[in-house]
Amino acid sequence: MEKVKVGLMGLGTVGGGVWDVLRMNRDEIIRNCGYEIKIEKILVKEGFKPKVSGVSKDKLTHNFDDIVENDEIEIVIELIGGIEPAREYILRAIKAGKHVVTANKALLAQHGVELSKAAYEAGVRLSYEASVAGGVPIINPLKESLGANKIKKIMGILNGTTNYILTKMTNENVDFHTVLKEAQDMGYAEADPTADVEGFDAAHKLTILSTLAFGTPVKFEDVYREGITKINPLDIEYARELGYVVKLLGIAKEIDGELELRVHPTFIPKNHPLAAVNDSFNAVFVKGNAVGDLMFYGRGAGDLPTASAVISDVMDIIKKRSLKPNLKNGFSYEPTKKAKPMGEIVNEYYIRFMVKDIPGVLGKIATLFGEYNVSLSSVIQKGRSERGVPLVFITHEARESDIQKALQEVNSIDEVIEIGNIIRVENGQERGEQ
Ligand code: HSE
Repeated sequence: MEKVKVGLMGLGTVGGGVWDVLRMNRDEIIRNCGYEIKIEKILVKEGFKPKVSGVSKDKLTHNFDDIVENDEIEIVIELIGGIEPAREYILRAIKAGKHVVTANKALLAQHGVELSKAAYEAGVRLSYEASVAGGVPIINPLKESLGANKIKKIMGILNGTTNYILTKMTNENVDFHTVLKEAQDMGYAEADPTADVEGFDAAHKLTILSTLAFGTPVKFEDVYREGITKINPLDIEYARELGYVVKLLGIAKEIDGELELRVHPTFIPKNHPLAAVNDSFNAVFVKGNAVGDLMFYGRGAGDLPTASAVISDVMDIIKKRSLKPNLKNGFSYEPTKKAKPMGEIVNEYYIRFMVKDIPGVLGKIATLFGEYNVSLSSVIQKGRSERGVPLVFITHEARESDIQKALQEVNSIDEVIEIGNIIRVENGQERGEQ
């Protein structure tokens, strides 16, 4: 059997998964791409001991030159993560005429155009199926199976850690910090959870998806980002009562030639397909103008699922490597669409106040909202207490900047103790959508 030789950077969770899946599914891989994939060299840190079995010592190297200068290696897989030296190594591999497969979402979200241009000029491929939603195929479907569509909307649960935390908070009525601590103790959440719980990881993934979907270079800085740390069990309880589920969503829409790009906790109707995506699962909901609505669902992390995506890229490159690539690997270099400032988006909102239980408070707040064109669709007030009671509103569609201005004024009403939380509500139907 003819072999294609590959250099692997990183033998951690995903690298180990790639090693194992190549051995476990050798026959299927040969059947589907026509060649055996052989890992020739593996770049690891000094003192690294492989956790997977069967890796002979002579495959390991601490020097990237052993990969980049090896003419027999045609494809380099980057699984070391982070920006540097991953960026430098990928650029060197490309310049040496090697195709590159990477799972590095932070790198692609911030330097994707630079890497894509380098690959395009060198006539090699840059593939990144594993960078978004792990084992769930979404990058290649957007480029290939859905390539004949104008993509109008993407909504995704793109981070497993936060979905796990929100699912536990919903099912067990516990607060954010208790679930986070438990998830860290069980190894589900990182010791430093910032990238996940503050929405950076989901925003990196949304940057990559929107770049591909909308045919314009999307900047990571243009994606509005808000994490889940402020979600209170009260918000979850009110969501349930009002017929919603709280999810951290990455939302990207093209409306009138402009892009809305945002990651934030969202109320979605309990019968929306994304509402049923629980635990650490990921899902991406896509609306194409020809195909209609689609949803992709599965494991967004983990050794074998992510390896499944990485190896599919290697196989795809093997099948197409005799064709001269005249595509930009899904990237576009000239901006064609502007990102809309967050203040201009139009949405429905859930707003929870803590107020003194005095007659007339509700009227004062509603009047102030009215002055800023914010109209209310539901109101809930429960309990009676001198110390304060929660007062909850769902608004009709309103401009974000009007909501923010109204809230500043509402905050100065004496009877308003605090603004507990503001969560955007996604009802599924877009303005102007048929
Ligand atoms: N930390 C990510 C998550 C997995 O929780 O989904 C890798 O992207």
